Amino acid sequence: MARHFLTLNDLTPQELDAVVDHASKLRNEWRQGKIRDTLRNRVLAMIFEKSSTRTRVSFEAGMTQLGGSALFLSPRDTQLGRGEPVEDSAIVISSMVDAVMIRTFDHDTVETFAASSSKPVINALTDDYHPCQLLADMQTFREHRGSIRGATVTWVGDGNNMCHSYMNAAAQFDFNLRIACPEGYDPDPNLLQAHADRVEVVRDPVEAARGSHLLVTDVWASMGQEDEQKAREKAFQEYQISPALMQVADKQALFMHCLPAHRGEEISADMMEHKSSVVWDEAENRLHAQKALLEFLILNRLD
Ligand code: CP
Ligand code: NVA
Repeated sequence: MARHFLTLNDLTPQELDAVVDHASKLRNEWRQGKIRDTLRNRVLAMIFEKSSTRTRVSFEAGMTQLGGSALFLSPRDTQLGRGEPVEDSAIVISSMVDAVMIRTFDHDTVETFAASSSKPVINALTDDYHPCQLLADMQTFREHRGSIRGATVTWVGDGNNMCHSYMNAAAQFDFNLRIACPEGYDPDPNLLQAHADRVEVVRDPVEAARGSHLLVTDVWASMGQEDEQKAREKAFQEYQISPALMQVADKQALFMHCLPAHRGEEISADMMEHKSSVVWDEAENRLHAQKALLEFLILNRLD
């Protein structure tokens, strides 16, 4: 049976720690110019039903750097876009490649694909979760501040796919999470209930940020919610990360954003370059974290 990575819960906390540590090792090796070809002749199929910059470049470059290759598949040019059942596509595609990465709308689609796939399936973002981003975020925190265990993390903004993955991360990496979101934009109530021991909704972003070790946000309107942009701009007015908000956080607090960022909306114009910001490392770490994940899933080992 292939191991999949549809949410952070598909790996144990120990496995997640090992992947994140391995990612830092790969980053150092890569920066030293060392050649690594652990995935020689291996192929990753990448199915994108939504736009992407970081995810596509990091997976494609990552496979090439490890000696393998990646195929970009869009529904526009494949039979998936013409109604071939997901199950049939999964059987066929997985019979020819070594792993499949999917970015799509319904989380059910990646689950359905994985159930019929003979090879590992990686969720590269659905409407509900974005676990690959969390590997990079956890790696980045660890590289800058050491273990995140016991820390307080504050999510400011929409209770969206990224927020849900932060909720899973709170349990898997053992930290506390405060979610500052406007009413009507809460995360999934079932997930909130399941994580009630370490995750709480705090409406006031200033209260939520007080003493926190990491402030994170994301766009107000995610992909697929373009029609709601105007309504969301109104609802999220008070939910912006700015240097003033960082002031109430811990002195050593970091700022992260999965990107793309909308300056003047979820962050003030000066936040990307603020001294607390690690957004560029966070983005680069998508490459290293996913190379570690690919080795883990395809080779079943990390060394
Ligand atoms: N953060 C992230 O997943 O970026 P892309 O949408 O550019 O892949
Ligand atoms: N929440 C955002 C994340 C983009 C990487 C979206 O789903 O569009």
